[in-house]
Amino acid sequence: MEESPLYRWLHLLGLLALSYLVLKQVWTLLIGIKTHILSRWWRTNLKKKYGGWAVVTGATDGIGKAYAMELARRGFDVVLISRNVEKLQKVAQEIEKQSRRQTKIIQLDFTGGSEIYPKVEKALKDLDIGILVNNVGMTYHSELKRFLDVPDINKGINNIINCNLLSMVHMTRIVLPRMVVRKKGLIINLSSATGARPYPMATMYGATKAFMDFFSRSLHYEYRSDGITVQSVLPHYVSTNMTHNMDTNILVKTSNDYAQEALNTVGYTHRTNGCLSHCLQSYILDHLLSETIMTFLILHFISDYTINLMIKKLKVK
Ligand SMILES: NC(=O)c1ccc[n+]([C@@H]2O[C@H](COP(=O)([O-])OP(=O)(O)OC[C@H]3O[C@@H](n4cnc5c(N)ncnc54)[C@H](OP(=O)(O)O)[C@@H]3O)[C@@H](O)[C@H]2O)c1
Repeated sequence: MEESPLYRWLHLLGLLALSYLVLKQVWTLLIGIKTHILSRWWRTNLKKKYGGWAVVTGATDGIGKAYAMELARRGFDVVLISRNVEKLQKVAQEIEKQSRRQTKIIQLDFTGGSEIYPKVEKALKDLDIGILVNNVGMTYHSELKRFLDVPDINKGINNIINCNLLSMVHMTRIVLPRMVVRKKGLIINLSSATGARPYPMATMYGATKAFMDFFSRSLHYEYRSDGITVQSVLPHYVSTNMTHNMDTNILVKTSNDYAQEALNTVGYTHRTNGCLSHCLQSYILDHLLSETIMTFLILHFISDYTINLMIKKLKVK
């Protein structure tokens, strides 16, 4: 039987659509290999590219501390900002001993409003800053809860907005003008994979992280012609105080491994999950699961996670 012209056209269109989809996946795979595998050997020389000091917020624990230590290892003098002076001094000593770089500490509670930033402006006034890592972040409760079930929700809302959002915007406002004059600079913003898709039981947290991601991406396009890179980093689980130091495995990274891998991606991408394992997790969530299935799984995973956490706490007692 002879094929009709319509049938042949539809056949051709189908083949073209399939080729497009296959090529798109192959392209994503190649970009992934370049960003997360080849970058281990062909790292951007951050010191040469951006120079000066690195400033890290929330630098005494977890991912922030790991970024600060790794940046010092890569030749940067580091400004550490957090709430606790003793912890700041301890990390500063560690850096000076291990990497023989200079450090400066600023004690600050980022849950404060706009009035806290003149102190930072004054402390950073005379420094040539090449890299800013906006890492500080908090959840509004140590356990995952529905919005209205969060104790002292009024305070929680203010704190999380000030700490996660206001800090990033003000720190950027303070550091960016001099980066523009020097025609080079790197701003790394620690968003989260919870900001890339709905995350029930951590609604405010996820929403602040979505803001961080969009702020970073737009700012990158605004300032890249001035030699500035703004990188949005969206981790999945990293074992830190925030995640109750959960056990590490193929899905959950240590903060040191995470910071090292994430810094390797600078120069390769301005938006990343930071490491191969987390990129694969995002790929699966984005391509294989609908929002309905995903949020159902999150809710069930969270229930299990919260129950396990409570059992762990009881055992410690
Ligand atoms: N861990 C994860 O799985 C994960 C996943 C996605 C995204 N993230 C994001 O990555 C960033 C770092 O998370 P993390 O897990 O490393 O957190 P973490 O272990 O809780 O460490 C937070 C750091 O921020 C400081 N800090 C907390 N509240 C502060 C405040 N109000 N003012 C000043 N400093 C404050 C803490 O030091 P002091 O207590 O000494 O002040 C500490 O150095 C956050 O933005 C988080 O949202 C983490």
